[in-house]
Amino acid sequence: MIVFATSDKGGTGRSVTSCNLAYRLGLRGTSTAYVDFDFGSPTAGALFEISKVDKGAEPGRGLHSYLRGEITDPQRLDVRVATDREALRSRRSRGGKLFLLPGDEGGGEAMAAEDPQVVRRCIDLLLELDAAFKVVIVDLSAGRSVAMQIALEATAPKYMPDKEVYWLLFHRWTRQHIMAAHGLVNGPKGLIQTGTAEIGRQPLYTERELRRRIRFVRTAVPRPGEQPETVSGPQAAWLLRQDAALRSLAAEYRLGAGSLLGRTPVEPVLQWREQIILDADVSAGIANRETVEAFEDLARKLIAEDTWVPI
Ligand SMILES: Nc1ncnc2c1ncn2[C@@H]1O[C@H](COP(=O)(O)OP(=O)(O)OP(=O)(O)O)[C@@H](O)[C@H]1O
Ligand SMILES: [Mg+2]
Repeated sequence: MIVFATSDKGGTGRSVTSCNLAYRLGLRGTSTAYVDFDFGSPTAGALFEISKVDKGAEPGRGLHSYLRGEITDPQRLDVRVATDREALRSRRSRGGKLFLLPGDEGGGEAMAAEDPQVVRRCIDLLLELDAAFKVVIVDLSAGRSVAMQIALEATAPKYMPDKEVYWLLFHRWTRQHIMAAHGLVNGPKGLIQTGTAEIGRQPLYTERELRRRIRFVRTAVPRPGEQPETVSGPQAAWLLRQDAALRSLAAEYRLGAGSLLGRTPVEPVLQWREQIILDADVSAGIANRETVEAFEDLARKLIAEDTWVPI
C-alpha cells in the first residue's frame, strides 16, 4: 500500500502525525517505509532522532538526487538501528521493520514534473518499496507541489493497475484550514483537477476512483468539552458553538465524517517538541494517552479493508 501525506498549508502536523503513524504501524507488526519527498523541508530524520540525517540525507545520497538521476540507490535507514533515541531502539522481536528514506538537505529544486524520466524513477522506487514493505508512506510538500503532480502520475492506474494507492490530507481544525484542505482537493490545480487531467489522451484517474482514495486527517483538534477549569462558562459555551460550526463547515466542504480517516487531539508534548510519542512517554505521565490512541486508530483504519470504499 502506498500512502501520500499532503496538506494545503504548511505546519499542519503532516510530518509529525505521519511519522507517529509509521511508528505505530511498525509496532503492530506492519512493515513500513517512510519516504520523505518533502522538497522544501525534510524533517523525518529529526523526528526519528537520527542525527546523521536530521536535516536530510547525507549530501548527494537522498531521494532528490535519486529522482534527478544522479544516483541509483537512495539512502535508506533502519530507524530502530539508526536512531539516537535509546527507547526507540527496540528489541529485534518487537514489531515490523521501519525504514526511513530521507530527502536531500536543501531539496529538490530543478525537478520537472513533465520530465518522463523523473516519473519513471518515481515509479521504479515506489514499486520496489511496495514489494518490500506492507505500507509505504510518502510525505509530500505542502500545497500544489511538483511532488504532488509527479506522485499522481507515477501511481495512476495506468502504471500501477492493481496497487493500493491512497491520499491523506492533513488539516487543522479551523475555518481557514478546512477551506484550504477543500481547495487542495477540489480547487484549481488541486488533486482532482490534476489527477483527472489527460496525459497521453487518457485521464490519469476517473474522478470517482480518485475520490475513493482520498481521506482527511484533522490534527491538533482541541476538545471543547474538556477544557481546564481556567476556561469560564461563557468561554466553554462559545468553544462548543465554534466546534459545532466547524463540523457544519467541514460537512459542507465534503470533509465530514464520511471522508475522515481520523483526528489527533492537541498534544502538549508535540506543541513543544516534534517527536515520536512512545508508550513509555504515556507511562511516565508526559504524553496523553488519547494522543497515542489517536495514532493507533489512524494505523488501524489505514490498513482496514472497509476504509477505502467509495464515499
Ligand atoms: N496533535 C498535535 N498537538 C500539538 N501540536 C502538534 C500536533 N501535531 C503536530 N503538532 C506540531 O505542529 C507543528 C507542525 O507539525 P509538522 O512539522 O508535522 O507539520 P507539517 O505539516 O509537516 O509542516 P511543513 O509544511 O513545514 O512540513 C510541529 O511543531 C508539531 O510538533
Ligand atoms: Mg513536514
